[in-house]
Amino acid sequence: MTRDSYRSQIFGQLRSNPAPRYSGPMTATRARAPRHTLPPPPRGRHRSADSFLRPIVESWSVQPAALRVLRAFLGVTFFYAGVQKLADGGFFHPGSLSYIGTQLREFSQGSPIGGLLRFAGHVPVLTGLAIALAEIAIGLGTIAGIGPLLFAAGGFVVNLLLTLSATWHVHPYFLGSDSIYAAAWLAYFVGVAETRRRARQSIVSRKGHAASYAPPGAIGRREMLRGSALAGATLVSASVAAAVAGSPAAATNALQRHPGGGSAGAGRQASGGGSSGGAPQATQGTPIASLSSIPVGQAIGFTAPGVGPAALVRLGPDTVVAYSRVCTHAGCLVGYDASSRILVCPCHGAEFDPAHGAEVIGGPAPAPLTPIKVTVDRQTGQVVIPS
Ligand code: FES
Repeated sequence: MTRDSYRSQIFGQLRSNPAPRYSGPMTATRARAPRHTLPPPPRGRHRSADSFLRPIVESWSVQPAALRVLRAFLGVTFFYAGVQKLADGGFFHPGSLSYIGTQLREFSQGSPIGGLLRFAGHVPVLTGLAIALAEIAIGLGTIAGIGPLLFAAGGFVVNLLLTLSATWHVHPYFLGSDSIYAAAWLAYFVGVAETRRRARQSIVSRKGHAASYAPPGAIGRREMLRGSALAGATLVSASVAAAVAGSPAAATNALQRHPGGGSAGAGRQASGGGSSGGAPQATQGTPIASLSSIPVGQAIGFTAPGVGPAALVRLGPDTVVAYSRVCTHAGCLVGYDASSRILVCPCHGAEFDPAHGAEVIGGPAPAPLTPIKVTVDRQTGQVVIPS
């Protein structure tokens, strides 16, 4: 064997595996040395942790920087969105402004998927729980790189449904955030698919076949383990969020109480945009809630006939006001911040002061919220919309 053919045999093998590349003197003894200097494979727990974490790190390192930015933002945001729902004490409580049942009912009005939302409204707690868990799983799965195409498609579907419901009435459309999120998920899906396609092409061109490439959708034992770990992490995150959830900000079940339950507001009456005293008298109209069921400084949501989603705010012991929740900027539904006692729009930050006719005190809204006339019935203690 000539010296050149001997070198070709030895280093031809090494070149096929570039990791232990060797540049020292070309002798058989020294050429094998790198194989003995490699760190031993991790064992036991270390091996399990290594085999679990390595795919996560690699999944980030193989992606272009633009995809990493999208992935980090979408993953963290979806995880936070799911946790935030479960940590909201009012999300599962009727009467709260953030109650999922109220949201489904309000979103269904004029939505192209109104039928689906009304159907989900029959099982609001189940629907809310499914949405929150799906968001947490999608967020964690995206961050960990588990089932990236599946979760990117899931994120796209979630935001597409929200575009057709929660922000369907926002005009112009680009002021609604859900359509932008849907487009971001679609871009991430296409980017991941394209990265995979190029990786497969690279393997095929190097080896002449794709035997070692796992096709999308192939689920091995490792994938099953990672999927189980993801499910466990989702449930743990959801449990922690539910455990730290505060009590509902608004009076729980206020809309379900029977008339005549309270008397704190007896002898006083209030109307949208201001309050006024009134002589004791029975009031005809549509009852909203018992005044005594709403703590001072808190608010509840209700649907006002002919107006739609509305908020009833108790300003003082004998004073309540009501306004439409439809923001005058682009149509999002405002919420209530009990700590500052103002109505706040989640879309672009408009702020309205319920104690002063819902006048605009911040943000881009051009006009106050629409007031709704309400009255406190002295005899029953109910807040009613007079007929
Ligand atoms: S919709 Fe833009 S601030 Fe409310």
